[in-house]
Amino acid sequence: MSTTIHSQPFIDQRPGTSGLRKRVRVFQQKHYLENFVQAMFDAIGDTENQTLVIGGDGRFYNETAIQTIVKMAIVNGFKRLIIGQHGLLSTPAASCVIRKYNAFGGVILSASHNPAGQEGDFGIKFNIRNGGPAPESITEAIYQLSQKISSYQIMDCDDISLSETGTQYLQDMQIDIIDPVADYAELMADIFDFPAIRALLCNGRFQMRFDAMHAITGPYAKEILEKRLGAETGTVINGVPQADFAGGHPDPNLTYAAELVEEMFAETGPDFGAASDGDGDRNMILGHGIFVTPSDSLAILAANAELIPAYQKGLKGIARSMPTSQAADRVAQALNISMYETPTGWKFFGNLMDADMVTLCGEESFGTGSNHIREKDGLWAVLFWLNILAIRQQSVSEIVRQHWQKFGRNYYTRHDYEEIPTEFANQLIERLQIQLADLKGKSLNGYIVDYADNFSYHDPVDNSIAENQGIRICFTDGSRIIFRLSGTGTQGATLRVYIEAIEDNPDKLFEDTQTRLKDLIALADELAGIKSITGRTAPTVIT
Ligand code: G1P
Ligand code: ZN
Repeated sequence: MSTTIHSQPFIDQRPGTSGLRKRVRVFQQKHYLENFVQAMFDAIGDTENQTLVIGGDGRFYNETAIQTIVKMAIVNGFKRLIIGQHGLLSTPAASCVIRKYNAFGGVILSASHNPAGQEGDFGIKFNIRNGGPAPESITEAIYQLSQKISSYQIMDCDDISLSETGTQYLQDMQIDIIDPVADYAELMADIFDFPAIRALLCNGRFQMRFDAMHAITGPYAKEILEKRLGAETGTVINGVPQADFAGGHPDPNLTYAAELVEEMFAETGPDFGAASDGDGDRNMILGHGIFVTPSDSLAILAANAELIPAYQKGLKGIARSMPTSQAADRVAQALNISMYETPTGWKFFGNLMDADMVTLCGEESFGTGSNHIREKDGLWAVLFWLNILAIRQQSVSEIVRQHWQKFGRNYYTRHDYEEIPTEFANQLIERLQIQLADLKGKSLNGYIVDYADNFSYHDPVDNSIAENQGIRICFTDGSRIIFRLSGTGTQGATLRVYIEAIEDNPDKLFEDTQTRLKDLIALADELAGIKSITGRTAPTVIT
């Protein structure tokens, strides 16, 4: 029986960089999730007779939320649901499944790498028919509707079973519970040279470690790396997804993937190491004794794309988020293909990929992907690297060093200041904003400002404009300092400072990043007043 439940708007339901993310206890408030889901179903167009994909990263509250969404989907007209077994689908797998089954869209339950559990975070986002995150026009419409909502529709019935694959019916709505890994694994086998990777992984010398960080990629990595590609059992560590990610923070970077980093830098460490995040869309790439920055990784993948079966015919173009280093730009120039600079967030790449203007996309925040789906894809990046290693028969470190020798190096770091009071963060951005107009042509500690602005993006496909996407101060030698506030945090504000310097001198390619960038780091503090306004003397996380 369908019931109309009366409720009132919650003022905090505006989706951020990647959907609505809040503390679990916020989502547990009566009507909170239901209001958002109703606003979502109302905003996305005619849902009558449509197919909807549902899955999440398995964190605490995943299955509870799915049961609610199922009971609302039926009343909102959906005819078929495709749900990952146990409610699981990594974000890239969800994108893959939406595309493969030509679904109307998908609901992904995840707060990515944010800690999980009763005291942790939860999140929900809608992906459209192309498999990618809903554009801002839709997320804004969801928010507007959530602010006017007075009731929602829900079926009063028992929970469905998520534990076995197969088909079941809720009245006349068909529900298919699918293996969350199979479709995705098949897609990977279509893209990469699996026999070559298998030969590398089974040559008796090559050692690899993949850290699933107790999150969703465990089953995917075990199936693909260990089962299909023959990597030794135990290659995948922390491979059983847990509802609280074992109390960890599954963000694959030098701070949070410390266990893997330590192993990779040990004297007898493996040849190749990688990690993925809570929902499987991020990746970190390491070689023995070397960390590959995500910006360099994008550039290296682009420069080696012709070694991969799916990209052999060449790339249409490359896109990167504005704060991502310009390393890939040099590759695009050498390949004579277009380079696009978009605001932070994967949703801005969707139009470019749909219009066939770009093949590879990347963000400095450990996100890389291609037009095979419309989300960034952690394991895809790992397989891309393995494919390159298998063909080139060189170490990660040799490949990176040769890349710098050929294209020059973009020294790059990001400093995050987490959980600073919102008023301090706003004060700091305002202080930067008022300086912008006068900066052009000025010499700051020897760096001459080429231009300074608050980045605004004009989408060449749908002509939409996204403003205030980050303060950038760019110098005549190509170096840059960028400031922006995070749109994914759930507590206070997070300031991100991105610093980049370009080096073409072959004698200066192998210096320590923080040392090489220290003048620009100091300049960033001077300009923004980070220490004086926030009282913080050091960043929370350096990547
Ligand atoms: C962060 C990253 C951004 C990424 C997003 C979702 O957003 O910086 O590149 O797309 O997470 O994974 P932010 O918190 O900076 O708004
Ligand atoms: Zn993620």
